[in-house]
Amino acid sequence: MSESQRITLAVQRFHPEQDAEPRWQRYAVPYTPDMSVLEGLQYIKDHLDGSLTFRWSCRMAICGSCGCMIDGEPELACHVFLRDYAPGPVWVSALDHFPVQRDLVIDQSDFLEKLETVHAYLIPAGERTAAEGTYRQTPEQMTDYYAYAQCINCLLCYAACPQYGWHPDFVGPGALALLQRYNLDSRDAGSELRHAVVDAEQGVWGCTLVGHCSEVCPKGVDPARAINQNKPGSSARYLLDWLRPGRRRQEGSE
Ligand code: SF4
Ligand code: FES
Repeated sequence: MSESQRITLAVQRFHPEQDAEPRWQRYAVPYTPDMSVLEGLQYIKDHLDGSLTFRWSCRMAICGSCGCMIDGEPELACHVFLRDYAPGPVWVSALDHFPVQRDLVIDQSDFLEKLETVHAYLIPAGERTAAEGTYRQTPEQMTDYYAYAQCINCLLCYAACPQYGWHPDFVGPGALALLQRYNLDSRDAGSELRHAVVDAEQGVWGCTLVGHCSEVCPKGVDPARAINQNKPGSSARYLLDWLRPGRRRQEGSE
């Protein structure tokens, strides 16, 4: 590697067993025009400070594990280049709105629990025997949900969402996009099961249309659109429920 150019990476460090508060640590990293921010972090780990802790795997914006805040924006570290932050420093910290386990590693438990609540898997209308054949789908039917199926669970949208930051009960953009991925699948019959999550105060109505989730999504999923697609149906269910004679009588007697 040519060492003609260097850039400073200011990385937020936090080791809970020894730090009361996160702290910034600066590293001078030699870089070439093709080096990603993730490669800058790997250079630090390999050559300057082996204690720096971060997640990564694929290095090609597929696994979703290298998300962090870079100059204040949620990014995949493998998807952005050091050259674009010159002359630096490049400020790198853990994704906003999540507890930090160590340095750039966040605790994803809250998202994983929310993902379970949205039933993000195919729920067929009924059992199908092998003799009846596979569940078939046309390319047009696949187009309906294809964009939402690109989600890689990177959680950048959660770090970008002010509502999630203020109200952690909000199910949030990524999980609601995955909910819609299955609702729009012609092979799925589980949307009624998902209504309870959609209609809850912390479901789609927790979204206030900021839209930054869709701007930062590295896969073009557009979670804000998925959320908005659910609002008319949720409103209709609320209205129909409110108009039910039994419901009105019940409320009138209260
Ligand atoms: S919707 Fe986009 S930003 Fe959010 S978790 Fe999925 S891929 Fe990441
Ligand atoms: S290392 Fe897999 S998305 Fe960045």
